[in-house]
Amino acid sequence: MSEQIDTALNWAAGVIGPRSESPRLDAELLLAHCLGKPRSYLYGHPEDSVDAGCWARFQDLVRARLKPTPIAYLVGAREFYSLEFAATPSALVPRPETELLVERALDLLSPGRATRILDLGTGTGIIAITLKIHCPDARVTATDVDPACLELARANAARHGTEIEWIESSWYDALGANRAFDLIVANPPYVAAGHPFLTEGDLPAEPEIALTPGPTGLEALEAIVAGAPRRLDADGWIAVEHGYDQQAPVAAMLEAAGFGAIECREDHNGLPRVTTAKIVENGQPSA
Ligand SMILES: C[S@@+](CC[C@H](N)C(=O)[O-])C[C@H]1O[C@@H](n2cnc3c(N)ncnc32)[C@H](O)[C@@H]1O
Repeated sequence: MSEQIDTALNWAAGVIGPRSESPRLDAELLLAHCLGKPRSYLYGHPEDSVDAGCWARFQDLVRARLKPTPIAYLVGAREFYSLEFAATPSALVPRPETELLVERALDLLSPGRATRILDLGTGTGIIAITLKIHCPDARVTATDVDPACLELARANAARHGTEIEWIESSWYDALGANRAFDLIVANPPYVAAGHPFLTEGDLPAEPEIALTPGPTGLEALEAIVAGAPRRLDADGWIAVEHGYDQQAPVAAMLEAAGFGAIECREDHNGLPRVTTAKIVENGQPSA
């Protein structure tokens, strides 16, 4: 049995409707993926028929979407900063909010300077890889505690022809004792364990370790900020993504760790999302 493109889309949008804020878009992305065509193809060919094999695959994906499974996992890819990255259930689906973190990190880098960047909790590798692409002179190191994330990040780096140093590590633990950086960047897990938000939308399908660091939601940010002074050279910067309600505690922990020039920026929804700061006093012995 086969169906026309517009009939297939109407069916899928109706089925997905109760589980997604964007059922028509979801249906289009899934059908375009099954057809191996860009989404625009669907608009130009609404009466084309979808062959039986493709129709069956499409129905399977629509049912999987209801579990819920994020679209990025179903089609195996997600766009971030106008680049395409492979996405699998091993890692958090890249979020548009994180583009602000990359933008802020790029603002902090001096053009032409061979900056050393450390991306903590790299997941799909989007931050490390995007920074390397936009700042090819930088030496980029990225860590994750989950080896499956690092495998995915390596594949994404190969896809974009970028060279990154990948280290399996809990935050700074496996970095050599004398490793220092000019910029530390991180989008760590920051949702408090048990928060009702974790049951909403597609979040139940994403790795818990990528979402929640512990009971307060601040544990990972605390570990990253507390360890940063020892890992930053003079004039080093930190840039972290955090929850919309974590601006004040993040600023307080940065100040307590010896950072100044603390500045928080809002995401595209007008919510405080990314804080940057410059080291004023650090744990490095003075010359
Ligand atoms: C919110 S996700 C961010 C992933 C990616 N950087 C991004 O922006 O899409 C947090 C990442 O931190 C990693 N992570 C969690 N605990 C960690 C730890 N103790 N040390 C290193 N990475 C950790 C998770 O595996 C996950 O990949």
